[in-house]
Formats: sequence, structure tokens, C-alpha cells
Amino acid sequence: MNVLRFSDLIDQGRVQGRRVFIRADLNVPQDDAGRITEDTRIRASVPCIEMALAAGAAVMVTSHLGRPTEGEFKPEDSLAPVAARLAELLGRPVPLVANWVDGVDVQPGQLVLLENCRLNKGEKKNDEALARQLAALCDVFVHDAFGTAHRAEASTYGIAQFAKIACAGPLLAAEIDALTRALDEPRRPLVAIVAGSKVSTKLSILEALAGKVDQLIVGGGIANTFLLAAGLPIGKSLAEPDLLGEARAIIGMMAARGSAVPIPSDVVVASEFSATAEARTVDADAVQPHEMILDIGPRTAAALAAIIARAGTVVWNGPMGVFEYDQFSGGTRALAAAIAESSAFSIAGGGDTLAAIAKYGIERDIDYISTGGGAFLEMLEGKQLPALAILHQRAAG
Ligand code: 3PG
Repeated sequence: MNVLRFSDLIDQGRVQGRRVFIRADLNVPQDDAGRITEDTRIRASVPCIEMALAAGAAVMVTSHLGRPTEGEFKPEDSLAPVAARLAELLGRPVPLVANWVDGVDVQPGQLVLLENCRLNKGEKKNDEALARQLAALCDVFVHDAFGTAHRAEASTYGIAQFAKIACAGPLLAAEIDALTRALDEPRRPLVAIVAGSKVSTKLSILEALAGKVDQLIVGGGIANTFLLAAGLPIGKSLAEPDLLGEARAIIGMMAARGSAVPIPSDVVVASEFSATAEARTVDADAVQPHEMILDIGPRTAAALAAIIARAGTVVWNGPMGVFEYDQFSGGTRALAAAIAESSAFSIAGGGDTLAAIAKYGIERDIDYISTGGGAFLEMLEGKQLPALAILHQRAAG
């Protein structure tokens, strides 16, 4: 996708002494005491900020945190913990500025973090007056918040319409490049792994991918619905019988292209869903009425690993089983190992997937780990993300 890149602006000397407004996605999980429990997004925002400072810009950064009520500040909505973590990572103070819409005092070489942008009235609805005020704060708007690129809000879309210059930051650019490489120009075979609890939440992704991938691997509760569609017993496993028609249609789409949705040949079952549940590995046609499927079995895992070993590109979203419990983690662990060992270009995204990658310590073996949750899924669906569309428009016009 053709968008103006911040790195190009810097190379052209168009950032020195300018006011740069960076929209980052610093929406990180916190515990009840407000401590950040996972800081990937903050770390991922650092290169853009450092680039802007090194180029001699006056730097403003903002992000949303959670889904606060606009105009109603509550302490738990504050970016203060993010400012503290960012300061540690950058090795410099990061002042946090509240009520900033009417003007921000920042000089070249300085950095300020602007309080949670979803506290501004009109942010969610992309209010034009607010967007114009945000745009007036800067000379250059840098969108570096891939995780929020599927939202058309004042700080992601409207500001890009009205800012003098609007461009993509390095994180956003890297996400676009990796997803384009995986989905639009893949080295084949292209294998997608779509797992998760429900077909319904990922139906449009499954349908979109069935039209372009060479192998579509399903896992988790999604695989149960496919097992049911293949006429196999699933006991009391989580499944969506009302979506059997859709599952069969996806199997049919893949078959029509000479490809397949591999159906598990063995599974790991238990009679209850708990950390202490006793696991039993059985053939997929031997699941008892009182049992539930909580993972794929080793034979299935080996077959999927062989498919991944032959892949040119692997796109991974979702664990194969209840990997949080060790007795049901074998499938996800085997799949993670296969992706890590494969020479395929691999890209992964989604909260559970990132947790599995961290659990098995394979971060360095995945070619690209997306910071996007909903945005990553919408890219897999083939949707055009609004925040990218407006940058594209600005680059063209
Ligand atoms: C995310 O966590 O996926 C992004 O930060 C977007 O957050 P939102 O779903 O509240 O818009």
C-alpha cells in the first residue's frame, strides 16, 4: 500500500524543528493495582519516538487506554503508568500532559505524552471539530498505532485528514509490509492456522482465507464444529451446530481448489474443564458423550507439523487447545515448535497467540509478531483498515 513513510520524511530533512504528533497504541493490560502486566506495545512504540527526537522534532505522543467515558477523567484511565514505563525504556523523563487539545507547549528535542486521547469529547465518533483541533497541534501527523488502525476516530482518522502532513510510522509500516508479504505476495504453499473458541467470531476470516490459502488449519473450539461437520462425535465439547452449513461450505471451498481443511484424527479429551482434569488421548471417532475435546492429539499434531514444515508462508492466529493447562497444551506446543523450526515466512497475531508464543519462548523464531488484536483479524478478513485508507488517500492526493 502506498503511504508516505515517516522515515522518508526524515531522510528528506522535513522533520527537523517541526511539531510531530505521534498516535501510538499504548493500550496495555494492567492488573488491579494499575501495574502494567505486558508492555510489548510500549516497547514497539519506542523506535518511532526515538526517530522523531533524533531528527530534532518537538514530539507529542498520545494513545487511548481502555474505553473510558469521554470528558470524565478517572485515575484508572490515566496514561501515567505508561509514561513511567516509557521513561524507563527511553532513559529520559516523559512528562504527561492533561487537557491538551487547545495547545501543547513542547520544543524541538523535547517529548511529551498527551493524556488518554479517548477522554477527549468527540474522539470515538471522529468529530470533525476535534480532529481539526488535533491536526492544528502539529506540522506532521505520524500514525504508528497498528493496533487501533481498524478504528476511525479523531486521533486515528480525522487528524490524518486535516494535518498538513500525514504519514505512517515505522511500526505501522512494518505491520503493513509483513501482512502484505504474507497475504498478498506469499511464498507458497500459504498455510493459515485459525483457532479459537468459536467459528462465529472468526467466520468471515475463515471464509476470506479459504479463498486464498493452500491449507487452512483449524483448532480449538472451531475445530470441534469442523469435526461435527465431518460426522464425528464430539461429546459435550464446545461447538456451534448451527454453523455446520458454514463449516461444510468452507471445507467445500478448499476442496474445490484442490486443498483441504485437515480434520483431527486424534484428540485429547476430559470429562471436565479444569486445571486438574484427567486427560485422555483418543481417536477422533472415539469421543464419549460425557467427554469434551480440549486439545488435538499427537498424531494430528505431527500431521499438522508436516504441513507447516512444507509451507512457504504461515499465518497463525489462535491456540490449538487449552494450552494454559499443561495436560491440554501438547497441540499448541507442537504447532509452535513446528512454526519456529519452519523456514517459512511466519506471522502471528492475537492475544492468545502471543501468550502461547511467550509461553514456549519462540518470539525470536517467528518472523513477524503483530501488535494488533482486532486490527490483525480485520486484515486477515481482507478488510481495508480506515486509518490505512486515509494515509493512502493523503499519499495519492
Ligand atoms: C486493542 O487493544 O486491540 C487496540 O488497542 C484497540 O482497542 P479498542 O478495541 O478499545 O479500540
